[in-house]
Amino acid sequence: MPGKMTNPEIEKYIEEHTTPESEVLYDLYRQTNLRTFYPRMLSGRVQGKFLEMVCRMLQPEKVLEIGTFTGYSAIAMAQGMPDDGIVYTIEVNAEMESFISEYVAKSGMEKKIKLLMGDALRIIPELNETFDLIFIDADKEQYVAYYELAIKKLRAGGFLLADNVLWSGKVLEEDSLSDKETKGVKAFNEHIKNDDRVEQVMLSVRDGLMLIRKK
Ligand SMILES: C[S@@+](CC[C@H](N)C(=O)[O-])C[C@H]1O[C@@H](n2cnc3c(N)ncnc32)[C@H](O)[C@@H]1O
Repeated sequence: MPGKMTNPEIEKYIEEHTTPESEVLYDLYRQTNLRTFYPRMLSGRVQGKFLEMVCRMLQPEKVLEIGTFTGYSAIAMAQGMPDDGIVYTIEVNAEMESFISEYVAKSGMEKKIKLLMGDALRIIPELNETFDLIFIDADKEQYVAYYELAIKKLRAGGFLLADNVLWSGKVLEEDSLSDKETKGVKAFNEHIKNDDRVEQVMLSVRDGLMLIRKK
């Protein structure tokens, strides 16, 4: 499970100095806590606002998200995109579909969010689109695989964000002690470090965000 890297008081201070989320995102946050087993998977107020701001800065026409969960980050990004922008968001868990659709409708972002249900490893190669921004936030063991499929669909000069790259600090563990997810995150971070096609900066927002630019 992802965890915050900073101490709770700093975390509270960061939240207090960040513009509050929209009413519908707050409601989605509450309902995610009431209705799902792992509510901590949701991006939350600070990261959601960060994603929205990135979209306000880049004004992307097309965004790809890998891992929708209840739709919080998809809605946050859509809120920051131009009127004709579209977020394609992929979710493998069929049980999430009605929850996501309910909140996409409540947010009024139906025209900007295209939900694709299924395994991203199967769906991405079938997408006949070029993206300006890609957000990777699904199964940690598959991060390198998602990345290699996604980078082909990213335009030159486009950006990719990957969530949980600090994995609650477990990235510092020795390999022999690491679980599969930690190994996946570490392999991804090394993969990016050695990839000449991109430049990147690792940010300590929440559980760690890698911001990558395709040259
Ligand atoms: C951390 S949550 C996403 C959180 C969401 N982006 C947010 O910020 O609110 C990860 C999601 O990825 C989904 N997932 C895992 N493996 C996947 C795959 N291969 N293809 C698509 N979705 C996947 C999980 O079912 C889960 O809902």
